[in-house]
Order: sequence, then C-alpha cells, then structure tokens
Amino acid sequence: MKVSKIKGTIDYFGREIKKYRYIEEVARNISKQFGYLEIQTPVFEATEVFARGVGEGTDIVNKEMYTFLDRSNKSLTLRPEGTAGVSRAYVENKMYVEPGLRKLFYFEQMFRCERPQAGRYRAFTQFGIEAIGPGSAYLDADVIYFAYLFLQKLGIKNVKVAINTIGSIAGRARYEEALKEYFSKHIENMCDDCKTRLEKNPLRILDCKVDAKSEIMANAPKIMDYLSEEDKDYFNKVLSSLDALGVNYVIEPKLVRGLDYYNNTVFEFIYDDESSNINGLTLLGGGRYNGLAKELDGPDTDAIGFGTGIERLILVMNELGVMPKFDESADACIITIGESTKLEGIRLTNYLRDLGLRCEIDYINHNLKPQFKLSDRVFAKKVFMKKLIIKTCIITLIIILAVTNLSVCYADGLTDISEIN
Ligand code: HAM
Repeated sequence: MKVSKIKGTIDYFGREIKKYRYIEEVARNISKQFGYLEIQTPVFEATEVFARGVGEGTDIVNKEMYTFLDRSNKSLTLRPEGTAGVSRAYVENKMYVEPGLRKLFYFEQMFRCERPQAGRYRAFTQFGIEAIGPGSAYLDADVIYFAYLFLQKLGIKNVKVAINTIGSIAGRARYEEALKEYFSKHIENMCDDCKTRLEKNPLRILDCKVDAKSEIMANAPKIMDYLSEEDKDYFNKVLSSLDALGVNYVIEPKLVRGLDYYNNTVFEFIYDDESSNINGLTLLGGGRYNGLAKELDGPDTDAIGFGTGIERLILVMNELGVMPKFDESADACIITIGESTKLEGIRLTNYLRDLGLRCEIDYINHNLKPQFKLSDRVFAKKVFMKKLIIKTCIITLIIILAVTNLSVCYADGLTDISEIN
C-alpha cells in the first residue's frame, strides 16, 4: 500500500523550511524585545482542558478536535490551539504565586480537523503570546501593537486591524441573553448552523456567513447597548492607546471570535487586498480572556493574547514578494583526484568546517565531472585551485567558494583560511 501524508498536512524541507524558520526567528526576536518568555506545553492534553477552556459551544470543540482514548481509556486531544494549554500550565505550575504579569510565547504545531483549503490546514503552526495577570487597557493596546509590529517586520502591510469589545463577563452574559431572545423569534428562517448556535453560543450567530446580509441580522441587538459604562470606558481607552501608538483600526461590531473564553477586547488582523483570491483571510486573532484560569480551577486571573498561523503568513508573504532571499550557497567545495586523495580531501573539508565555513565534498565520485556538478548544485560562484603535497601523494584540491563572480584561482599550500577570502 502506498503511504502518503494526511490531507491538510505539510512536509517542510528545502526553501520552505527556511521561510518557516525565518518567521520563527522574527517571532523570537520580537518576543524578546517585548519581554515574553517561551513556554512549551505537551502536544496533547486531557480533552477536558479544551472542552472547558475553549468551550463546548465552539466549532473547535464540537467538530474539529483530534480526540482519542489512550490505553487506560482516558480521553486525550491533540492541542487545537495554545491558550487553553498555557492557562492549564499557568494554574498547575502556580505561576500566579509571583506578583505581576506572566508574559509567555509559544511557536508550536496545532491540530484541527478542518476542511483543508488555501491557508487552512489540519496540522499547522501557531506563534502565540499570552499575558496572564492584572489587566489594563494599555496592555491590550500593547498586545495589539506587538501583533501589528510583528506583521510589519515580516513586510505584511496590507492588513486590516479589526477590533471590537464583547463586554466584561457579566456584560457578555447580558448580551447573550438578549441575542437568544431576539434570534429565537426568527430562528425558523435562519441556517442550520445558526439553529445549533442559538442554544450553545448565540454570540456566534453574529459570525454567520450565510445569514450575514439578512434583515434579521441587521436588526439584531447591538453590543454597545449592553455594555456597562466601565466596559465602554475600558474600550475607549484601548482605542485611544492604539491611536497614540499609530495603529489604524476598524471597529467591527460583529466581530465576536470563535472561542468561548473571550471577553472585553477582541481583534483580528485580516489580509486586505481586493485583487487577491485570499483577500479577507484572517492572519491573526486574539483578545482578552479574563476568567479562563478560574475555569481551569485556578485563581480568578485576567489575561490577553493572540495567535497567528505561520502557514498563512508564508502564503501572504509569497504573494506580496516580501520573503527574503536566503543564502543557499556553500562556502567551499573540495574536489579530489583519485581515490587515494579522498581521505585527505575529507580532512580538509572538516578543517574548513571547523573554521566555520559550510564546506561540501563528493563522497562517492573521484572523477572531476561529477565533483564539479556537486559544486554547481551547492551554488559555488568562485573557484580556487590548490595543489598540496600530503605524504607521498600529490593531491589537487579545488576549493570552490560561494562569493561573487565565478573565477578560477591557483594557490599553493593551505595553512590559513584567510587565503581563501
Ligand atoms: P484562532 O483564531 O482560532 O485563535 O487562531 C489564530 C490564528 O491561527 C488564525 O488567525 C490563523 O492565522 C491560524 N489558524 C487557525 N486555524 C488554522 C488552520 N486550520 N490552518 C492554518 N492556520 C490556522 C486561537 O487559536 C487563539 N488561541 C488565539 C489567542 C491566543 N487568543 C488569545 N490568545
């Protein structure tokens, strides 16, 4: 039977893994600048962590999780997102004992059994940050600014920053009640997804693509009418902080996000290019999730964060032509003549490697032609020829350097690498 990868997964190698690592490097650097420390949680958790954390009424928990029983019949789930696992680790490791914020980042694979399409995979990588501890509107703005700067650093400028507030935990509950009451009168005329969401997650009805333009949707209760004065002030402070930081945003009253743990500020960064067939793709999403630690048996703690999919960033960076050129050339390629010289060639290769150069040698062939082919394959641009007397053999070593112009030089004796440069 022919084996092949699972639909919606990617093998990373060659240039593609360089793109992936480049984004990872930018992510790590910016995390350091903002003072976020790395956290790694297990790739699977007890299913309960996501069911309680992400929420029973969400698409992720209802339809998309890879859940299985282990040998002792315990239900485990491959992590579909990072926030619930990080919050579980925060509680379990008593990270709350020290006062102040715990600022954490992760760069990890996630798993969701979704229908694959452009930018949507079943195994994908998220870079995410979580700031767990005392909340502040200034922190919300700072987290959004982190996301904004990260995309700017990658050269992704065509993004719409959409922002909304869904109110504090109490405000959100009031709004959900109002939505339930309103939509229950119209549910017969709405799509099947909306019917399911009415009981489990009425807020998500606002997210419905099928009924988006209907009159029922247009007349639905507005969050602003259910916010307390405190919630409104909080949101206004987030917005004025973003103004001060120079982040352009659009307030989207229907932006609710698909996970249950959110409250107050929610945001998404959406690819914005009318001419592109991936216009409207969500590149990054996040928000405040006060109370998730408590939901997972920890103290009542504020928190905010975001997650972004690396595969989507690669897609957009390719489209915008902002992926950097990667240096794929070898510094040197050693060419030997005759089998008796091969071992000395290998020693020289490793001498150069020891000095920090990327050096290649053909382990199989002794003829010149295939050895030159290898030097071509490793993108050598400059050729140095060198004669060396070792023991009784005369070895001709050709060191091909990846510098600038293709040229051939002859040199005697090699004692110092500076001779090559
Ligand atoms: P999310 O909106 O589910 O939020 O995912 C965040 C980002 O992950 C998306 O904007 C997208 O770039 C990427 N993503 C999601 N699903 C896929 C997929 N199937 N294939 C490729 N990329 C995907 C969360 O996961 C929250 N945990 C974010 C967060 C962190 N909120 C607070 N802290």
